[in-house]
Amino acid sequence: MDKRPIGVFDSGLGGITAVRELKKIMPNENIIYFGDTSRVPYGTRSKQTIRKYSAQDINFLLQNDVKMLVAACGTVSANIQKEVVDKLPVHFTGVLKPAVDAACKATKNKRIGIIATPATIKTRAYGKEIKKIIPDTEIIANACPMFVPLIENGYVDKDCQVTRIIANEYLQPIIEQKVDTLILGCTHYPIIKEMIQEIVSQDTTLIDPGVEVANYVKKYLTENNMLNNSDKHGYCHFYVSDNIESFEAHAGVFLDENISGDVDFVDIDKY
Ligand code: DGL
Repeated sequence: MDKRPIGVFDSGLGGITAVRELKKIMPNENIIYFGDTSRVPYGTRSKQTIRKYSAQDINFLLQNDVKMLVAACGTVSANIQKEVVDKLPVHFTGVLKPAVDAACKATKNKRIGIIATPATIKTRAYGKEIKKIIPDTEIIANACPMFVPLIENGYVDKDCQVTRIIANEYLQPIIEQKVDTLILGCTHYPIIKEMIQEIVSQDTTLIDPGVEVANYVKKYLTENNMLNNSDKHGYCHFYVSDNIESFEAHAGVFLDENISGDVDFVDIDKY
């Protein structure tokens, strides 16, 4: 039994897709979320900058006495160094490995697509992990730099024409290469999952990193006797490094609950 909160972070709204799943499958867990909204997007930045930002995000969460760290961010997961992770005082997970495991289970034709930020695609990290499990998999990867700004600005409706035009273009190579499984390699993308599914066809299995990482966290906490067994609903508190109101509005819609009053500002430069 461990009542300490789970620490979750992302560059902005994307990690909410993991929070939603964590709350669904472990309603008693407490969660502290940090969204680095003053520095989003991470996915078009250099490796050095992404590593510097994620170190600060982690420092902040550690000061909140978290029992586990979840980088609910494909970009951080693909760019963080193993030496850094190994030195952390609590268990760390990114979204990459849980998503890869699910994709390898799902594929039948061994053709897996990955869409993610440019900084993630550049590392080829998803493909490398997939090939450790199924070496002869064909990997079709495409960077989608416009998705994060569109999603952060609320262009998320299934029928939004602006996002649809861009999604059609980004998803063309995925469709042409006949993948049967597509990893949404950035945690922002499940917010427009319905549109993506419609474009690539209903026969393609979409791997949602939020769902997969939440399942992994539950498994880890269970196996290590670290679940919060309280019979009360857990709390979820959010911190952002910029405008509180805009985060409350967008994250609230996506979580389908009113989170006003649960969001505070943090000056991330101090960490
Ligand atoms: N949601 C993040 C990811 O999974 C970060 C996107 C960004 O900030 O560019 O990659």
